[in-house]
Amino acid sequence: MKVVVLTGAGVSAESGVPTFRDADGLWEGHRVEDVATPEAYDLQPSVVHRFYDARRAALAGVEPNDAHRALAVLEEALGDDLLVVTQNIDDLHERGGSTRVLHMHGELRSALCRGCRSRVAWTEDLGDYPPCPRCGVSELRPDVVWFGEIPYEMDRIMAALEEADVFVSIGTSGAVYPAAGFVQYAAAGGARTVELNLEPSAGSHLFDDARHGPASVLVPAFVRELLG
Ligand code: OAD
Ligand code: ZN
Repeated sequence: MKVVVLTGAGVSAESGVPTFRDADGLWEGHRVEDVATPEAYDLQPSVVHRFYDARRAALAGVEPNDAHRALAVLEEALGDDLLVVTQNIDDLHERGGSTRVLHMHGELRSALCRGCRSRVAWTEDLGDYPPCPRCGVSELRPDVVWFGEIPYEMDRIMAALEEADVFVSIGTSGAVYPAAGFVQYAAAGGARTVELNLEPSAGSHLFDDARHGPASVLVPAFVRELLG
């Protein structure tokens, strides 16, 4: 049984990481276009750095929850037949025990050099313009896919979706493409599709099965069901 799991901010919500589309429409007090576009970075790099430096530092204060841990249990059982594709830039899947994780929107704990294009593991601040460990140029930006940029690993993701028997979407609003289109792609390839989300997402009707409630409850129950 080949399973592809797509996760969004909702899987980390109960760990205390805020989601994007909260009631006030702001992300930690910022409009998304002020911190998550290449244009914002060109105009005000220090604002963007301060924002992501704070997000990266905040990772130290959060822990994976039962949803992350259940996906690690699923990986133990399925091995290479499970792929977790996450839109999240936090590291909670890895800290929950998952090893087969693709971060399609990049990672907080990575920096991207605008000089040599290297992606380097990074745990410190970037706002003080440290030099790139590869080329020495002080042009490191957050290794995060901003609006208008192309997500990572699309070839591997599409190939896995084509082969999937089950596609599970967890904690994502279905508002951002290409991830929002994965359900139709997986279904066209013959996968059973399941949504696990706090409330119906924008694409809820596209799934064979949609269950609504907190991820920390729904995901462990679904994993038990899948392995039972
Ligand atoms: P959103 O904030 O758009 O959606 C989060 C979803 O999680 C919503 O549908 C909530 O109902 C649901 N949710 C909240 N708490 C939950 C819980 N405890 N259990 C289950 N579900 C819960 O976040 P994403 O869909 O991840 O991109 O957003 C997609 C992309 O938009 C992000 O990766 C980011 C953002 O702009 C970039 O930064 C490129
Ligand atoms: Zn470099």
